[in-house]
Amino acid sequence: MTGSLTVVGLGPGAAELMTPAVSLALSEATDLVGYATYLERVPETKLGQRRHASGNRVEIDRARHALRLAAEGRKVALVSSGDPGVFAMAAAVFEAIETGDTRWRKLDIQVQPGITAMLAAAAHAGAPLGGDFCAISLSDNLKSWATIEQRLEAAAKADFVISFYNPASRARPEQLPRALAFLRQWKAPETVVLFVQAAGTPDMKLTVTTLDRADLSAADMRTLVVVGSSKTRLISRDGAAPWVYTPRSDGTS
Ligand SMILES: C[S@@+](CC[C@H](N)C(=O)[O-])C[C@H]1O[C@@H](n2cnc3c(N)ncnc32)[C@H](O)[C@@H]1O
Repeated sequence: MTGSLTVVGLGPGAAELMTPAVSLALSEATDLVGYATYLERVPETKLGQRRHASGNRVEIDRARHALRLAAEGRKVALVSSGDPGVFAMAAAVFEAIETGDTRWRKLDIQVQPGITAMLAAAAHAGAPLGGDFCAISLSDNLKSWATIEQRLEAAAKADFVISFYNPASRARPEQLPRALAFLRQWKAPETVVLFVQAAGTPDMKLTVTTLDRADLSAADMRTLVVVGSSKTRLISRDGAAPWVYTPRSDGTS
């Protein structure tokens, strides 16, 4: 098969946070496939390049469409925001390959990484991920709330810094309040909590608060929420948000 499929991560938003390898893959593609909002972020670089935009909730269909185009001999770039392997399209592509046309296994498939929202958000706040950390999606579209609670409990007991992707949407306003109330069983009220909206874009907004004071209405679909470990702390600054960091040593060695 002569076609190829590259799954690319556009990064969190700002053009300068897109890697050169991703820019190259986008400019070389004959076809761009993706959620319409993400495709709009890709500059028009090549005459005749075809764009295939789809809605947000049809990931497997979009992956299959990209694979079919590649099987026809097209050079396809499938776009994701952030990193394509983090709660995004790369896994949908491999799921489609595993369950789909066996000829797709012969295609040239590449995954080009991008800066995920968690890293852009953390860099803006300081170094909250300096110790051990984990990432949990609060969306229960693809897993049960019981599974989310199991993972929250394990992460809290292990004293990880926890980053929440998909903390809220119009259809799921209750997820974040539920998750934070659940965590309060193990985490101290003064645990540092960060809300980072539109990380890595000019509209970025950072709110530094605590588990007992968090204003949960501050979270939307473009927010990354970070709940600190027992070691996460603040360095105050005059006239600016405090720096937030988690020391690399947890004091046990
Ligand atoms: C389906 S996940 C996709 C994550 C993406 N693949 C990544 O690596 O960043 C969507 C969630 O990522 C987070 N997110 C994506 N872009 C963001 C940004 N610029 N700032 C803050 N959070 C963001 C939000 O929590 C959002 O609900």
